[in-house]
Amino acid sequence: MSTMTELSGGPSLPQQRKLVTEIPGPASRELMARKRAAVADGIGTVMPVFAARAGGGIVEDVDGNSLIDFGSGIAVTSVGNSAEAVVRRASAQLARLTHTCAMVTPYESYVEVCEELARLTPGDHAKKSILLNSGAEAVENAVKIARYHTKRQAVVVFEHGYHGRTNLTMALTAKSMPYKHGFGPFAPEIYRVPMAYPYRWPTGPERCAEEAAAQVIDQISKQVGATETAAIVVEPVLGEGGFIVPARGFLPRIAAFAAEHGIVLVADEIQSGFCRTGQWFACEDEGIVPDLITTAKGIAGGLPLAAVTGRAEIMDATHVGGLGGTYGGNPVACAAALGSIETMRELDLAARARRIEEVMRPRLEALAAEHPLIGDVRGRGAMLAVEIVTPGTKDPDPRATAAVAAACHSAGLIVLTTGTYGNVLRFLPPLVIGEDLLGEGLDIVGEALAKV
Ligand SMILES: Cc1ncc(COP(=O)(O)O)c(C=O)c1O
Repeated sequence: MSTMTELSGGPSLPQQRKLVTEIPGPASRELMARKRAAVADGIGTVMPVFAARAGGGIVEDVDGNSLIDFGSGIAVTSVGNSAEAVVRRASAQLARLTHTCAMVTPYESYVEVCEELARLTPGDHAKKSILLNSGAEAVENAVKIARYHTKRQAVVVFEHGYHGRTNLTMALTAKSMPYKHGFGPFAPEIYRVPMAYPYRWPTGPERCAEEAAAQVIDQISKQVGATETAAIVVEPVLGEGGFIVPARGFLPRIAAFAAEHGIVLVADEIQSGFCRTGQWFACEDEGIVPDLITTAKGIAGGLPLAAVTGRAEIMDATHVGGLGGTYGGNPVACAAALGSIETMRELDLAARARRIEEVMRPRLEALAAEHPLIGDVRGRGAMLAVEIVTPGTKDPDPRATAAVAAACHSAGLIVLTTGTYGNVLRFLPPLVIGEDLLGEGLDIVGEALAKV
């Protein structure tokens, strides 16, 4: 039987990369064979390594290899895996009660999370929240609420946007393969408009914000109809679309247009929120105050929780019983969220995210100067990325991107790819990662680039 020390991950896990087998090792390969037999093929695997425990900036696999974590389980474990306050609060809650259903007999932690969301999200207007299980469910509910409130149907989303894998959120998502391919028909009344993508804007980054905003406003006004539009749903920093930071000035123009026409502005901060970009929420960077904000991922340190938070009069628009779900705001997940928020406050993880950028960005820019494969370095805080292209062009090179990622994986660095063209290498370290590990991870990225 394992001892407690053997079991414990979290903050006590040694913060050192250590490879004791090839990657994947024999125990991972054996589990992978079982996975292939028992788990549907649709569930992909970034790195064929099975995790045993994790904490800080390290994931230890079942073969005893310690890997550097530049993925945070896709931007979830910002406070680190099994963070002390998350474990303490969630364990205590597990022993008290696991579920009564917030719609049957509510419990205090649900209310406390909603109170925290009202305090932490931008704007000093009266706010209310609902809690859900997943990011996609939060986006679905934001759309339901916006439609009910406005009595309009159209929803405007952006090129390169990603909002989830349910039927409505697939419709809201831009990229076909793998998210939508073969899964239609999709929900109607969804309209896609251009995103201010500076690196790929045809007339150059300087004109990007103004021209993109003009196109968006023109398309909504002329094709969708501003008075038909219930909501504009936007990621303040795009996640699965390739860590695109919209050109400065674009989002404020869109926000002003939405306000002028009574369109509900929904900021999807599921990936960019909760300190990831160096502020509690990425939309704060340009002073955007969304009407509704969707959160998930980083909110609860790894437990499934999501939320829609927004103007009280919009959130209260629907009839009683119109919103909810059996597990939404599960008490253990709420306790974990309170632990996660406590950790973010105590350790000032927004500042840690800014520090991660200070360390990483110059290193990534130096790599870009050395390797013409890197076409663009971008992102904010601890949500950074490089776009990989054919040298001398802007042609996306997803094969080279996959090769760089694979070389990183073999060297014991967990790194993810992303982007509409599959050519973006993204870096999402836990915000509690030590600077030694951060530096070592970047060394591995450099070596991988040199190899490819
Ligand atoms: C911006 C954004 N919205 C929505 C989602 C969907 O969240 P979930 O996977 O929890 O349903 C994601 C997930 O990556 C996301 O990044």
